[in-house]
Amino acid sequence: MNRVLVISSELSWLKETEANLKQSNFVSEVASNGKEAQMKAFQGKFDYIFLDLMTTAHSGLEVYKYLRSTGNQAVLFLIVPTEKWFKENGLDEKNLLKSAVKCLIDPDPKTLSSHIRELGRIKTWESLQPPTVKASDGEEVENEIEDESFTQLKIVEFLQDILAVTDFYIRLGKNKYVKVFNRGEMTSGEQLLKYSNSGQKYIYFPTKDRGEFISYQNELAKRAIADSDNPGGIVVKALKTANEKLVEELRESGIQPQLLEEGKKICQNMYDMAKRDKNLKEILSDFEKFDPSSFSDSFLVSFFSTVICKNIEWVGTKTIETLALGALLHDIGTMQLEESIRGVEYDEMTDEQKAIFHKHPDFGVATLSRVPKISQAVISIVQQHHEYNDGSGFPRGLPGNKIFPLAKIVSLADGLTDYIKENEVSVMDGLKGFLSQRENLLRYEPELVKNLIRGFKT
Ligand SMILES: [Fe+2]
Ligand SMILES: [Fe+2]
Repeated sequence: MNRVLVISSELSWLKETEANLKQSNFVSEVASNGKEAQMKAFQGKFDYIFLDLMTTAHSGLEVYKYLRSTGNQAVLFLIVPTEKWFKENGLDEKNLLKSAVKCLIDPDPKTLSSHIRELGRIKTWESLQPPTVKASDGEEVENEIEDESFTQLKIVEFLQDILAVTDFYIRLGKNKYVKVFNRGEMTSGEQLLKYSNSGQKYIYFPTKDRGEFISYQNELAKRAIADSDNPGGIVVKALKTANEKLVEELRESGIQPQLLEEGKKICQNMYDMAKRDKNLKEILSDFEKFDPSSFSDSFLVSFFSTVICKNIEWVGTKTIETLALGALLHDIGTMQLEESIRGVEYDEMTDEQKAIFHKHPDFGVATLSRVPKISQAVISIVQQHHEYNDGSGFPRGLPGNKIFPLAKIVSLADGLTDYIKENEVSVMDGLKGFLSQRENLLRYEPELVKNLIRGFKT
């Protein structure tokens, strides 16, 4: 369990903070003067220390020096009454912040407590390092960092008022970045708006933190689903970005077990969202504020697969997991196709190109058979995701009764996804258009098609 120490001589503030923290799963202690604070820091091992620099006897600054000189390992946050406080007291803010995570300006007890509660959710928080200096108003500190070491996120899809699990940057030019949020602080919507108003479209974070980012997006989605007042839009945003970054990570670092776990969680969250919200159309209205073509294939295929499953009796947790991995990895074999084929729409391919394209399910199987702990069921989904009920599919042209049932689900979800992408239509229009094509009614299992429609109606 995490331990936190809050130090301040502002007694009523301290008392209220302490009461607020009682409701968290932190072990919290408070100290109302510097002497007591040093004693507690000496006796106990804290994960986080919040130090009000206005603390008296010993002064806040003395406590700060004490903590640093004794090599205290706690992550340190400083509290000051105003933004100008450092200057007014002749102190060098940058220097002090070199060994603290962040400076908080006059936080009220509620804000501080919710910040502390958020901290507890970061799994690898222990690895936190004091930050490099961040841009503050009126003063921008540029960092020379290689473009390749960053991962990009759309500002409109970036969740606001959440904890920053990594440092976030705005890009100024080639290899030039300015930090806008430090790891551990709350992401401010106001600030984000300011950046997007000034023409910035993206926010960046170090690629080495991508795993943690994905995991936190999953956690946020889970919490948003549990909170019934929460609009579906937050869940969709969180899962969309989690999925995209997961696909990037899979592509660049290979199929790591931890990533597959996160993939399962994404799908479990989607499934819970589909179950929770009676009317998926409402969620989709949030969906459609985004351009459906901006969703990755694997996100849409996972999402439609869970929608199909929503009303199927025999679906259990294990099935959802299998389906999640199948949907996530179904097209992994396309990575082995030449760029010139990957970019072409199926109907526009030459016969020769088609013959090569038809091999991608088998390429996928070959890739996955080298990955430990991938179940045969997942492999079958990947192998058969283009097989159709009427035997017109590839690579084997299997008849409906020979196709693995979960592969049929992914196949239907994949067909709908392709239709939406190719015709550049919204999800609901795509569903209508897709189902009005006769060949589709022959290709897919009628029971599953019914489930897909019911999934959106009920
Ligand atoms: Fe495919
Ligand atoms: Fe696909």
